[in-house]
Amino acid sequence: MTFREVYGGAPDGVWAAPGRVNLIGEHTDYNDGFVLPLALPHTTRVAAVRRNDGVLRLHSAQTGGAAAPVELRLDTLDPAGADGWAAYPAGVVWALREAGHPVGGADLHVDSTVPTGAGLSSSAALEVATGLALNDLYGLGLDPARLAGLCRRAENAYVGVPCGIMDQMASACCTEGHALHLDTRDLTRRQVPLDLAAHRLRLLVVDTRVQHSLGDGAYAERRSGCEEGARRLGVSALRDVTVEELDAATARLGDEPTLRRLVRHVVTENRRVEETIALLDAGDVRAVGPVLTAGHASLRDDFAVSCPELDLAVDTALEAGALGARMTGGGFGGSAIVLLDEALTAKVGDAVTEAFAAAGHRSPRLFDAVPSAGAH
Ligand code: ADP
Ligand code: GAL
Repeated sequence: MTFREVYGGAPDGVWAAPGRVNLIGEHTDYNDGFVLPLALPHTTRVAAVRRNDGVLRLHSAQTGGAAAPVELRLDTLDPAGADGWAAYPAGVVWALREAGHPVGGADLHVDSTVPTGAGLSSSAALEVATGLALNDLYGLGLDPARLAGLCRRAENAYVGVPCGIMDQMASACCTEGHALHLDTRDLTRRQVPLDLAAHRLRLLVVDTRVQHSLGDGAYAERRSGCEEGARRLGVSALRDVTVEELDAATARLGDEPTLRRLVRHVVTENRRVEETIALLDAGDVRAVGPVLTAGHASLRDDFAVSCPELDLAVDTALEAGALGARMTGGGFGGSAIVLLDEALTAKVGDAVTEAFAAAGHRSPRLFDAVPSAGAH
């Protein structure tokens, strides 16, 4: 259904925010570390009108065709009562109001091409598109980074997912043709040119169609393990440990093999972000491949957030000649990315699809990650 079919009039405007893949820098954002995401061409669009009666109505084309919108009153929005998909946009309204911004009612209609639960940040896209719509409708004047911070607040405190800042910043701040180098400690950032076509390369997304969930405890467990590691090492976040200090640091963690592995992943992953950026700046895009693959091994063996389908996608792509491959996003399912020569696209894609069929997995979805615009 369209906005007009649900609400019977035309919207004041339409605001779009993309999903993302992360090139490198995984599980670093809640350790004050570095990330390097890029926006996908897939977007979530929010069509909206302002209302002046304190009512928020929410409808999505992706929720099974229910004709009636979800209807909420602004004065009773409460994280304790948050439920279902509507918690994402309602949480954004709640977070804006909690921060003192004068947001009133609205009718919102959501439509999206971002696959949900595929580790491609459909939730952040929904939050950021909602935030941008309200920012304009109520003339709040918030810049994209501030908006991203409030969207993350919505996801943490209202929806109840303890995510970092990467996804919302990627959706809000990426630009076409670039990856976003973000320092999650102070949100300083740089747009890093990523012209894959000029190098006859492609970045392929393999959506394994294993639905991931960051709310189910394993993500929070990794997060608190990292915090525990930082506490034991006497630093405010694992970002403060360098690769050169790593052996001494892990030795201090003594007989805690799990903590040692978590720390090792985060410290080496931050270095891999720096390596990747140096290679991109030098124009040596092909050499990024092995760095991605090393990142996957670290997420699989040290951080333990991969799964058989992600490993199969990565291993098969590499065997078929890809330059590098890794899982992307939080893990436990979701998507992998594959850097490859454009001439090998069909060969690698077919190999992955066949390997999934042979293993009895659902058929994966494959598409190009073309570095695209952030929210607009
Ligand atoms: P990801 O963000 O990686 O896609 P999440 O599990 O974090 O995965 O978020 C997916 C959830 O976000 C969905 O289950 C749904 O509740 C909500 N969501 C995302 N996009 C939409 C949409 N277009 N319409 C309704 N709900 C959506
Ligand atoms: C999820 C989460 C992010 C980040 C990522 C792992 O996508 O929302 O904040 O922690 O996992 O890098």
